[in-house]
Amino acid sequence: MSTTYHTATTLDGFLADPEDSLDWLLRQPLEEGGAQDHARFMQGVGAIVMGSTTYEWVLAHLEVTGEAWPYAQPAWVMTTRELTVPVGADVRFAAGAVDAVHAQLLAAAGDLDVWVVGGGDLAGQLAEAGLLDEVVVSIAPVTLGAGRPLLPRRLDLRLEETAANGVFVTARYAVLGPLLEDRAQPGS
Ligand SMILES: NC(=O)c1ccc[n+]([C@@H]2O[C@H](COP(=O)([O-])OP(=O)(O)OC[C@H]3O[C@@H](n4cnc5c(N)ncnc54)[C@H](OP(=O)(O)O)[C@@H]3O)[C@@H](O)[C@H]2O)c1
Repeated sequence: MSTTYHTATTLDGFLADPEDSLDWLLRQPLEEGGAQDHARFMQGVGAIVMGSTTYEWVLAHLEVTGEAWPYAQPAWVMTTRELTVPVGADVRFAAGAVDAVHAQLLAAAGDLDVWVVGGGDLAGQLAEAGLLDEVVVSIAPVTLGAGRPLLPRRLDLRLEETAANGVFVTARYAVLGPLLEDRAQPGS
């Protein structure tokens, strides 16, 4: 089982524009069943974690589309605020250090994976705590120049797999840890 940050990103490393819009992403064509297919990925997911901005984006999107909460798995939302929960959704709120939440995520996921939906800082908090195993990105053929960053930390990763899906380039990385240049040298 793995804790995997699986997301789409722009070529210049943004998850969303400065106003949290994903319009640039939602208009891209996808090959259902292709590389890093989301439905296939979700079959291996046992628990979900996301930040409150992402959660509120999902709620607003459901409001517009009239769709139901899309996840059967329990979902943890990191927040210091009181937020609403859609009917029928298994949503749990947590705040503070990610270690305790991660232990709950692993327990809920069992033999399956934990999906870190985003945003980037939450993925960064998990990486800093040594709890993020993988980063899987689908890179859209778009640049935004500014927005919500993909992973605002200094990390080394190891490329494990690449593919294409429609207009997206997909890549899977193992998280190795802090950037080599930042690791304390013996005796320093
Ligand atoms: N491209 C994609 O596929 C993709 C994927 C994911 C997200 N997105 C989008 O990217 C944007 C992400 O925004 P973001 O990176 O700014 O935010 P985010 O991670 O979704 O939310 C950040 C907020 O979560 C809460 N939070 C985070 N860590 C916490 C902790 N340890 N304890 C308590 N609360 C914590 C804080 O809010 P409060 O305490 O104030 O509630 C914080 O301001 C959203 O627009 C989202 O829709 C896109």
